[in-house]
Amino acid sequence: MKIFVTGGAGYIGSHVVRLLLESGHQVRVYDDLSKGHAAAVPAEALFRGDLLADVRLDEALAGGWDCVMHFAARTSVAESVKDPETYYSNNVAGSLRLAAAMRRAGVGRIVFSSTAATYGNPLKTPIPEDHPTAPINAYGQTKLDFEHALSYYAGAYGLGYAVLRYFNAAGAAPDARIGEDHRPETHLVPVVLQVALGRRDAVTVHGKDYPTADGTGIRDYVHVCDLAQAHVLAMQAIQPGRGLTYNLGNGAGYSVRQVIEAARRVTRRTIAVREGPRRPGDPPALVASSEKIARDLGWKPAYPALEAIIETAWRWHREHPDGYAH
Ligand SMILES: NC(=O)c1ccc[n+]([C@@H]2O[C@H](COP(=O)([O-])OP(=O)(O)OC[C@H]3O[C@@H](n4cnc5c(N)ncnc54)[C@H](O)[C@@H]3O)[C@@H](O)[C@H]2O)c1
Repeated sequence: MKIFVTGGAGYIGSHVVRLLLESGHQVRVYDDLSKGHAAAVPAEALFRGDLLADVRLDEALAGGWDCVMHFAARTSVAESVKDPETYYSNNVAGSLRLAAAMRRAGVGRIVFSSTAATYGNPLKTPIPEDHPTAPINAYGQTKLDFEHALSYYAGAYGLGYAVLRYFNAAGAAPDARIGEDHRPETHLVPVVLQVALGRRDAVTVHGKDYPTADGTGIRDYVHVCDLAQAHVLAMQAIQPGRGLTYNLGNGAGYSVRQVIEAARRVTRRTIAVREGPRRPGDPPALVASSEKIARDLGWKPAYPALEAIIETAWRWHREHPDGYAH
Protein backbone atom coordinates (compact mmCIF):
# COMPACT_ATOMS: atom_id res chain seq x y z
CA MET A 1 0.00 0.00 0.00
CA LYS A 2 0.96 3.66 -0.37
CA ILE A 3 1.01 5.29 3.04
CA PHE A 4 1.42 9.00 3.74
CA VAL A 5 2.88 9.60 7.19
CA THR A 6 2.72 13.06 8.75
CA GLY A 7 5.24 13.57 11.56
CA GLY A 8 7.06 10.46 10.39
CA ALA A 9 10.46 11.92 11.30
CA GLY A 10 9.43 12.08 14.96
CA TYR A 11 9.86 9.46 17.65
CA ILE A 12 6.81 7.22 17.16
CA GLY A 13 6.33 8.02 13.48
CA SER A 14 9.87 6.94 12.57
CA HIS A 15 9.36 3.52 14.18
CA VAL A 16 6.10 3.08 12.29
CA VAL A 17 7.73 4.20 9.02
CA ARG A 18 10.45 1.63 9.48
CA LEU A 19 7.93 -1.17 10.07
CA LEU A 20 5.89 -0.09 7.03
CA LEU A 21 8.98 -0.05 4.79
CA GLU A 22 10.14 -3.42 6.12
CA SER A 23 6.66 -4.80 5.36
CA GLY A 24 6.95 -3.67 1.72
CA HIS A 25 4.72 -0.60 1.80
CA GLN A 26 5.53 2.58 -0.08
CA VAL A 27 5.87 5.49 2.34
CA ARG A 28 6.07 9.27 2.12
CA VAL A 29 6.97 11.14 5.30
CA TYR A 30 5.51 14.65 5.51
CA ASP A 31 7.29 16.51 8.29
CA ASP A 32 8.46 20.08 8.82
CA LEU A 33 11.35 18.83 11.01
CA SER A 34 10.31 21.33 13.71
CA LYS A 35 10.80 18.50 16.20
CA GLY A 36 11.72 15.49 14.10
CA HIS A 37 15.02 14.34 12.64
CA ALA A 38 15.86 13.78 8.98
CA ALA A 39 18.24 10.99 10.04
CA ALA A 40 15.34 9.02 11.53
CA VAL A 41 13.91 8.19 8.08
CA PRO A 42 15.32 7.28 4.67
CA ALA A 43 16.13 10.47 2.74
CA GLU A 44 14.12 9.38 -0.30
CA ALA A 45 10.94 9.04 1.82
CA LEU A 46 11.13 12.53 3.34
CA PHE A 47 9.03 15.39 1.98
CA ARG A 48 9.61 18.47 4.07
CA GLY A 49 6.50 20.54 4.71
CA ASP A 50 4.21 22.06 7.30
CA LEU A 51 0.65 20.86 7.95
CA LEU A 52 -0.45 24.48 7.72
CA ALA A 53 0.95 24.90 4.18
CA ASP A 54 -1.93 23.90 1.91
CA VAL A 55 -0.08 24.11 -1.40
CA ARG A 56 2.81 22.02 -0.12
CA LEU A 57 0.38 19.46 1.34
CA ASP A 58 -1.45 19.21 -1.99
CA GLU A 59 1.85 18.72 -3.78
CA ALA A 60 2.90 15.97 -1.35
CA LEU A 61 -0.47 14.21 -1.45
CA ALA A 62 -0.63 14.12 -5.25
CA GLY A 63 -0.15 10.75 -6.88
CA GLY A 64 -2.68 8.59 -5.06
CA TRP A 65 -2.25 7.48 -1.44
CA ASP A 66 -4.21 4.67 0.22
CA CYS A 67 -3.98 5.82 3.80
CA VAL A 68 -2.69 8.67 5.96
CA MET A 69 -1.08 8.06 9.33
CA HIS A 70 -1.19 11.33 11.21
CA PHE A 71 1.48 11.76 13.90
CA ALA A 72 2.43 15.41 13.32
CA ALA A 73 1.50 17.46 16.37
CA ARG A 74 2.86 19.39 19.30
CA THR A 75 3.01 16.91 22.12
CA SER A 76 3.86 18.42 25.52
CA VAL A 77 1.15 18.70 28.17
CA ALA A 78 3.09 21.32 30.14
CA GLU A 79 3.80 23.43 27.04
CA SER A 80 0.14 23.24 26.01
CA VAL A 81 -0.88 24.74 29.35
CA LYS A 82 1.53 27.67 28.86
CA ASP A 83 1.01 28.14 25.13
CA PRO A 84 -2.40 26.77 24.03
CA GLU A 85 -2.37 28.80 20.81
CA THR A 86 0.46 26.71 19.37
CA TYR A 87 -1.50 23.57 20.22
CA TYR A 88 -4.76 24.72 18.66
CA SER A 89 -2.88 25.91 15.60
CA ASN A 90 -0.85 22.74 15.02
CA ASN A 91 -3.11 20.04 16.41
CA VAL A 92 -6.55 21.35 15.46
CA ALA A 93 -6.05 23.77 12.55
CA GLY A 94 -3.17 21.68 11.14
CA SER A 95 -5.18 18.47 11.35
CA LEU A 96 -8.23 20.07 9.73
CA ARG A 97 -6.00 21.35 6.90
CA LEU A 98 -4.70 17.81 6.46
CA ALA A 99 -8.23 16.37 6.40
CA ALA A 100 -9.25 18.96 3.77
CA ALA A 101 -6.17 18.15 1.65
CA MET A 102 -7.03 14.44 1.93
CA ARG A 103 -10.50 15.17 0.56
CA ARG A 104 -9.02 17.16 -2.34
CA ALA A 105 -6.61 14.30 -3.06
CA GLY A 106 -9.25 11.60 -2.65
CA VAL A 107 -7.56 9.82 0.28
CA GLY A 108 -10.28 8.14 2.34
CA ARG A 109 -8.47 6.51 5.27
CA ILE A 110 -6.61 7.91 8.27
CA VAL A 111 -4.99 6.53 11.42
CA PHE A 112 -4.79 9.32 14.01
CA SER A 113 -2.39 9.53 16.97
CA SER A 114 -4.53 10.45 19.94
CA THR A 115 -3.72 10.22 23.60
CA ALA A 116 -4.67 9.12 27.10
CA ALA A 117 -4.82 12.85 27.86
CA THR A 118 -8.31 12.87 26.27
CA TYR A 119 -9.61 11.13 29.43
CA GLY A 120 -8.45 13.84 31.86
CA ASN A 121 -8.65 12.67 35.47
CA PRO A 122 -10.08 9.18 35.00
CA LEU A 123 -13.00 8.00 37.12
CA LYS A 124 -11.63 4.46 37.10
CA THR A 125 -8.58 2.50 35.96
CA PRO A 126 -7.77 0.64 33.80
CA ILE A 127 -9.47 3.06 31.43
CA PRO A 128 -11.65 1.54 28.69
CA GLU A 129 -12.42 3.41 25.45
CA ASP A 130 -15.98 4.17 26.51
CA HIS A 131 -14.79 6.01 29.60
CA PRO A 132 -15.96 9.67 29.46
CA THR A 133 -13.48 12.05 27.82
CA ALA A 134 -12.79 15.23 29.81
CA PRO A 135 -9.32 16.62 29.05
CA ILE A 136 -7.68 18.79 31.71
CA ASN A 137 -5.08 20.40 29.42
CA ALA A 138 -5.04 22.02 25.99
CA TYR A 139 -3.01 19.15 24.52
CA GLY A 140 -5.67 16.53 25.35
CA GLN A 141 -8.45 18.88 24.29
CA THR A 142 -6.91 19.55 20.86
CA LYS A 143 -6.56 15.81 20.24
CA LEU A 144 -10.17 15.21 21.28
CA ASP A 145 -11.35 18.05 19.03
CA PHE A 146 -9.87 16.33 15.99
CA GLU A 147 -11.31 12.98 17.09
CA HIS A 148 -14.74 14.64 17.01
CA ALA A 149 -14.07 16.16 13.59
CA LEU A 150 -13.15 12.71 12.26
CA SER A 151 -16.45 11.22 13.43
CA TYR A 152 -18.43 13.94 11.64
CA TYR A 153 -16.27 13.63 8.52
CA ALA A 154 -16.92 9.88 8.49
CA GLY A 155 -20.69 10.47 8.53
CA ALA A 156 -20.66 13.29 5.99
CA TYR A 157 -17.83 12.38 3.60
CA GLY A 158 -17.39 8.63 4.04
CA LEU A 159 -13.94 8.97 5.64
CA GLY A 160 -12.73 5.80 7.35
CA TYR A 161 -10.58 6.30 10.42
CA ALA A 162 -8.88 4.73 13.39
CA VAL A 163 -8.15 6.77 16.50
CA LEU A 164 -5.33 5.28 18.56
CA ARG A 165 -5.10 6.68 22.08
CA TYR A 166 -1.57 5.95 23.21
CA PHE A 167 -0.62 5.96 26.84
CA ASN A 168 3.14 6.59 27.44
CA ALA A 169 5.27 5.55 24.50
CA ALA A 170 8.76 4.39 25.48
CA GLY A 171 11.61 2.19 24.26
CA ALA A 172 13.47 2.13 20.97
CA ALA A 173 14.09 -0.15 18.00
CA PRO A 174 15.85 -3.23 19.43
CA ASP A 175 18.83 -2.75 17.08
CA ALA A 176 19.17 0.84 18.41
CA ARG A 177 19.19 2.37 14.92
CA ILE A 178 16.35 4.74 15.81
CA GLY A 179 15.03 5.92 19.15
CA GLU A 180 13.66 8.81 21.18
CA ASP A 181 15.19 12.28 20.84
CA HIS A 182 12.82 15.09 21.82
CA ARG A 183 14.26 18.58 22.28
CA PRO A 184 13.63 19.49 25.03
CA GLU A 185 13.15 15.98 26.43
CA THR A 186 10.33 15.85 28.95
CA HIS A 187 9.51 12.14 28.91
CA LEU A 188 10.47 10.21 31.98
CA VAL A 189 12.30 7.19 30.52
CA PRO A 190 14.76 9.14 28.31
CA VAL A 191 15.34 11.73 31.04
CA VAL A 192 16.15 9.00 33.58
CA LEU A 193 18.52 7.31 31.12
CA GLN A 194 20.25 10.62 30.35
CA VAL A 195 20.94 10.90 34.10
CA ALA A 196 22.31 7.33 34.09
CA LEU A 197 24.61 8.34 31.23
CA GLY A 198 25.81 11.44 33.08
CA ARG A 199 24.22 13.81 30.55
CA ARG A 200 21.99 15.34 33.25
CA ASP A 201 22.70 15.68 36.95
CA ALA A 202 19.32 14.46 38.26
CA VAL A 203 15.78 13.55 37.32
CA THR A 204 13.07 15.79 38.76
CA VAL A 205 10.09 13.99 40.27
CA HIS A 206 7.18 16.33 39.59
CA GLY A 207 4.91 15.93 42.61
CA LYS A 208 5.20 13.46 45.49
CA ASP A 209 1.78 14.09 47.02
CA TYR A 210 -0.45 12.39 44.47
CA PRO A 211 -3.03 9.94 45.85
CA THR A 212 -0.90 6.95 44.77
CA ALA A 213 0.98 4.33 46.82
CA ASP A 214 4.31 6.22 46.83
CA GLY A 215 2.87 9.69 46.09
CA THR A 216 4.30 9.97 42.56
CA GLY A 217 2.36 9.90 39.29
CA ILE A 218 1.44 6.57 37.71
CA ARG A 219 1.60 5.92 33.96
CA ASP A 220 1.24 2.98 31.61
CA TYR A 221 4.34 2.50 29.40
CA VAL A 222 3.97 0.92 25.98
CA HIS A 223 6.82 0.00 23.64
CA VAL A 224 7.09 2.11 20.50
CA CYS A 225 7.45 -1.03 18.32
CA ASP A 226 4.20 -2.39 19.80
CA LEU A 227 2.55 0.89 18.87
CA ALA A 228 3.89 0.45 15.35
CA GLN A 229 2.30 -3.01 15.05
CA ALA A 230 -1.02 -1.58 16.25
CA HIS A 231 -0.94 0.99 13.45
CA VAL A 232 -0.65 -1.69 10.79
CA LEU A 233 -3.52 -3.70 12.33
CA ALA A 234 -5.71 -0.62 12.67
CA MET A 235 -5.04 0.54 9.11
CA GLN A 236 -6.09 -2.85 7.77
CA ALA A 237 -9.34 -2.78 9.78
CA ILE A 238 -10.56 0.66 8.66
CA GLN A 239 -13.86 0.65 6.73
CA PRO A 240 -15.19 3.58 4.65
CA GLY A 241 -17.47 5.88 6.65
CA ARG A 242 -16.69 4.09 9.92
CA GLY A 243 -14.49 4.92 12.88
CA LEU A 244 -12.49 2.75 15.25
CA THR A 245 -11.12 3.93 18.60
CA TYR A 246 -8.55 1.97 20.56
CA ASN A 247 -6.43 2.51 23.66
CA LEU A 248 -2.83 1.38 23.49
CA GLY A 249 -1.10 0.53 26.75
CA ASN A 250 0.03 -2.50 28.69
CA GLY A 251 -2.66 -2.33 31.38
CA ALA A 252 -0.03 -1.92 34.11
CA GLY A 253 0.74 1.31 35.91
CA TYR A 254 4.17 2.25 37.21
CA SER A 255 4.92 5.21 39.45
CA VAL A 256 7.72 7.63 38.69
CA ARG A 257 9.73 6.08 41.52
CA GLN A 258 9.16 2.57 40.15
CA VAL A 259 10.40 3.66 36.72
CA ILE A 260 13.54 5.12 38.28
CA GLU A 261 14.10 1.90 40.26
CA ALA A 262 13.63 -0.20 37.10
CA ALA A 263 16.13 2.02 35.26
CA ARG A 264 18.65 1.57 38.09
CA ARG A 265 18.30 -2.21 37.74
CA VAL A 266 18.66 -2.13 33.93
CA THR A 267 21.57 0.30 33.77
CA ARG A 268 23.29 -0.62 37.07
CA ARG A 269 24.12 3.09 37.36
CA THR A 270 23.39 5.73 39.97
CA ILE A 271 20.38 7.89 39.14
CA ALA A 272 20.07 11.03 41.25
CA VAL A 273 16.60 12.33 42.01
CA ARG A 274 15.40 15.83 42.78
CA GLU A 275 11.92 16.66 44.05
CA GLY A 276 9.83 19.30 42.33
CA PRO A 277 6.25 20.57 42.39
CA ARG A 278 3.43 18.98 40.42
CA ARG A 279 3.21 20.06 36.79
CA PRO A 280 -0.08 21.72 35.84
CA GLY A 281 -2.23 19.46 33.67
CA ASP A 282 -0.82 16.13 34.96
CA PRO A 283 -3.42 13.62 36.22
CA PRO A 284 -2.33 11.34 39.10
CA ALA A 285 -2.70 8.01 37.29
CA LEU A 286 -3.33 6.86 33.71
CA VAL A 287 -3.54 3.14 33.00
CA ALA A 288 -5.07 1.69 29.84
CA SER A 289 -7.39 -1.14 29.24
CA SER A 290 -6.28 -2.32 25.79
CA GLU A 291 -8.55 -5.35 25.77
CA LYS A 292 -10.59 -3.97 22.89
CA ILE A 293 -7.75 -3.89 20.36
CA ALA A 294 -6.49 -7.26 21.63
CA ARG A 295 -9.95 -8.77 21.13
CA ASP A 296 -10.88 -7.04 17.84
CA LEU A 297 -7.54 -6.98 16.02
CA GLY A 298 -5.40 -9.51 17.88
CA TRP A 299 -2.87 -6.89 19.06
CA LYS A 300 -0.40 -8.48 21.46
CA PRO A 301 2.51 -6.41 22.77
CA ALA A 302 5.91 -8.02 22.28
CA TYR A 303 7.36 -5.88 25.12
CA PRO A 304 4.80 -5.90 27.94
CA ALA A 305 7.43 -5.67 30.72
CA LEU A 306 8.72 -2.28 31.85
CA GLU A 307 12.32 -3.47 32.20
CA ALA A 308 12.34 -4.87 28.65
CA ILE A 309 11.06 -1.52 27.39
CA ILE A 310 13.75 0.37 29.30
CA GLU A 311 16.40 -2.09 28.11
CA THR A 312 15.79 -1.17 24.45
CA ALA A 313 15.76 2.55 25.29
CA TRP A 314 19.01 2.14 27.23
CA ARG A 315 20.71 0.54 24.22
CA TRP A 316 19.65 3.49 22.02
CA HIS A 317 20.80 6.13 24.52
CA ARG A 318 24.11 4.38 25.23
CA GLU A 319 24.91 4.11 21.53
CA HIS A 320 23.58 7.63 20.75
CA PRO A 321 24.22 9.78 23.83
CA ASP A 322 23.55 12.90 21.73
CA GLY A 323 20.57 11.35 19.98
CA TYR A 324 20.49 12.05 16.25
CA ALA A 325 23.18 14.72 16.65
CA HIS A 326 25.67 11.93 17.36
N1 LIG B 1 5.20 10.07 22.84
C1 LIG B 1 4.13 9.71 23.53
O1 LIG B 1 4.23 9.10 24.61
C2 LIG B 1 2.73 9.99 22.99
C3 LIG B 1 1.64 9.61 23.78
C4 LIG B 1 0.36 9.86 23.28
C5 LIG B 1 0.19 10.43 22.02
N2 LIG B 1 1.28 10.80 21.29
C6 LIG B 1 1.08 11.39 19.96
O2 LIG B 1 1.83 10.66 19.03
C7 LIG B 1 2.30 11.52 17.99
C8 LIG B 1 3.79 11.38 17.84
O3 LIG B 1 4.43 11.68 19.09
P1 LIG B 1 6.02 11.72 19.19
O4 LIG B 1 6.38 11.48 20.61
O5 LIG B 1 6.58 10.84 18.13
O6 LIG B 1 6.29 13.26 18.87
P2 LIG B 1 7.48 13.91 18.01
O7 LIG B 1 7.53 15.36 18.41
O8 LIG B 1 8.72 13.10 18.14
O9 LIG B 1 6.96 13.78 16.52
C9 LIG B 1 6.05 14.70 15.96
C10 LIG B 1 6.55 15.02 14.56
O10 LIG B 1 5.62 15.91 13.94
C11 LIG B 1 6.36 16.93 13.28
N3 LIG B 1 5.49 18.11 13.22
C12 LIG B 1 5.00 18.81 14.26
N4 LIG B 1 4.23 19.83 13.82
C13 LIG B 1 4.23 19.75 12.46
C14 LIG B 1 3.62 20.51 11.43
N5 LIG B 1 2.85 21.58 11.70
N6 LIG B 1 3.83 20.14 10.15
C15 LIG B 1 4.60 19.06 9.86
N7 LIG B 1 5.20 18.30 10.79
C16 LIG B 1 5.02 18.65 12.08
C17 LIG B 1 7.61 17.15 14.10
O11 LIG B 1 8.69 17.70 13.37
C18 LIG B 1 7.92 15.72 14.56
O12 LIG B 1 8.76 15.05 13.66
C19 LIG B 1 1.84 12.92 18.36
O13 LIG B 1 0.66 13.22 17.66
C20 LIG B 1 1.56 12.81 19.86
O14 LIG B 1 0.58 13.73 20.26
C21 LIG B 1 2.55 10.59 21.75
